[in-house]
Amino acid sequence: MIETKGLVKTIGDKMILRGINLSIKKGETVAILGPNGAGKSTVLKILGGLIKASSGEVKVNGLDLKKDSYDVKRKIGFLAHNSFLYDHLTPLENLKFFGKLYGVENVEERAKQLIDEVGLSFFTHDPVRSFSRGMMQRIAIARAIIHQPEILLFDEPHTGLDQQAIKLLNDVILRMRDEGSTILMVTHDFQQAIETCDRFIIIKNGKIVDDLQNVERNIDTITEKYMEQVSGL
Ligand SMILES: Nc1ncnc2c1ncn2[C@@H]1O[C@H](COP(=O)(O)OP(=O)(O)OP(=O)(O)O)[C@@H](O)[C@H]1O
Ligand SMILES: [Mg+2]
Repeated sequence: MIETKGLVKTIGDKMILRGINLSIKKGETVAILGPNGAGKSTVLKILGGLIKASSGEVKVNGLDLKKDSYDVKRKIGFLAHNSFLYDHLTPLENLKFFGKLYGVENVEERAKQLIDEVGLSFFTHDPVRSFSRGMMQRIAIARAIIHQPEILLFDEPHTGLDQQAIKLLNDVILRMRDEGSTILMVTHDFQQAIETCDRFIIIKNGKIVDDLQNVERNIDTITEKYMEQVSGL
């Protein structure tokens, strides 16, 4: 489903990614772990077509990201550090705007359903500029999935969410997994990763240093593997 070969990203004289080779099958749920500044968001942004790699290739469903970027992007739901929402618009207006961009049918109905699903029906008509961080994150999640993407690229999706919203987000992830979506999630929250992901990839200094299956679903196992790699012991 997603294949990368030798992804390198340099900015100025800084080498941010040093050859990332990834192979992710359809329906896999993958957590990307790693310390601050390791290059995790950079990998996700390249896969989502937000920025370009300096060299290497990305294929999604056999399509080349560079050549078929429009078709590839339609398959992807991207949740970044930045919400991409328009401050002066309400949740309904924001979702309708993004829904129309993706050609979503019955967009108003779909937008209202999502607002309901993320628990913000009461705020449907308030501009999002007045929203708390967690409320923004809830709408950003709705925005990312409005076009029912086959691939979810989520960068720290649990950040800022309360317990109820964490459960709600995990339910969304698990439901989309059951429907066959492929999910790549950058996170520092090992507990949430264990609950929703089948595979863990650890990135350090722009390289993949470990790739393991979440067989035991045990936080101590993952933490131990992570510390081994990240502390360089
Ligand atoms: N536009 C940019 N210009 C210069 N350096 C950049 C740029 N974007 C990222 N970097 C650098 O690339 C490295 C990797 O950044 P990235 O955002 O991918 O890290 P990350 O693994 O997502 O970290 P975090 O866990 O803190 O979110 C960092 O050293 C960062 O300073
Ligand atoms: Mg990041």
